[in-house]
Amino acid sequence: PPDTDPRPPGGGVRSPGRAAIAARHLRTDRWWLAPAVTAAGLLAFVAYSTWRAFANADYYAAPYVSPFYSPCLAENCRTMQGGPNADLFGSWWAISPAIIILIFPLGFRLTCYYYRKAYYRSFWASPPACAVAEPHRTYTGESRLPLILQNVHRYFFYAALLVAGVLTYDTVLSFRDEHHAWGHMGLGTVVFLVNIVLIWSYTLSCHSCRHIVGGRLRHFSRHPVRYRMWQFIGRMNAHHMLLAWASLVSVALADFYVYLLASGVLDDPRFF
Ligand code: FES
Repeated sequence: PPDTDPRPPGGGVRSPGRAAIAARHLRTDRWWLAPAVTAAGLLAFVAYSTWRAFANADYYAAPYVSPFYSPCLAENCRTMQGGPNADLFGSWWAISPAIIILIFPLGFRLTCYYYRKAYYRSFWASPPACAVAEPHRTYTGESRLPLILQNVHRYFFYAALLVAGVLTYDTVLSFRDEHHAWGHMGLGTVVFLVNIVLIWSYTLSCHSCRHIVGGRLRHFSRHPVRYRMWQFIGRMNAHHMLLAWASLVSVALADFYVYLLASGVLDDPRFF
């Protein structure tokens, strides 16, 4: 470009070397719809989960413990006598016990490849959609601080495995009644079962999981078991966005169901 080029230097779409198109974009469809719906969905979840995480109440209704509060590690889980309360944190932890544990699923989802795409588009407009220029002057992607920290995702994946294990344990316990006798099944058990299937599906369809299972191999033929697992996870990975949303909704619904029971709004219908 000539020296008089008014466009700023840097990596943005208006920078020298890029086509000088005056129009902001050439798309004629409703490209803004997906980021707008995504933003609305994420904001609704953030509002709901913030309220529930700080509520510090109505998170246990035998035999169900809210997935937002499990494992309940603080002494102030008094309502959970008989529930899966590990009481590791003692009495000094005065705020909601959900805060201890939510860091891990929250970090896992915040650094998830799909959610990154979702909030980069919906909230930062970077870019808002394919072939729609972002408003920022330069683009450095995730190559610098702070976004380079998104690489911790693979470690959050390991934490998410533990969290999914704990929620599996809670789901098994939902087959006991309030007196700890096995053979119970209520609507809550079904809610927990659906939720745990979706949580595991979302967790195992993670891009990091796919890499851990099948990455860095020179010859799939020498690793037939990992190859099979990689193929399986690859098929789930194709639905990662759907699983991200389905598990987000199911975990909120499981929490809300426990809230309805614990606050006395609802009685758990029992099948046996
Ligand atoms: Fe979405 Fe790992 S990429 S959970």
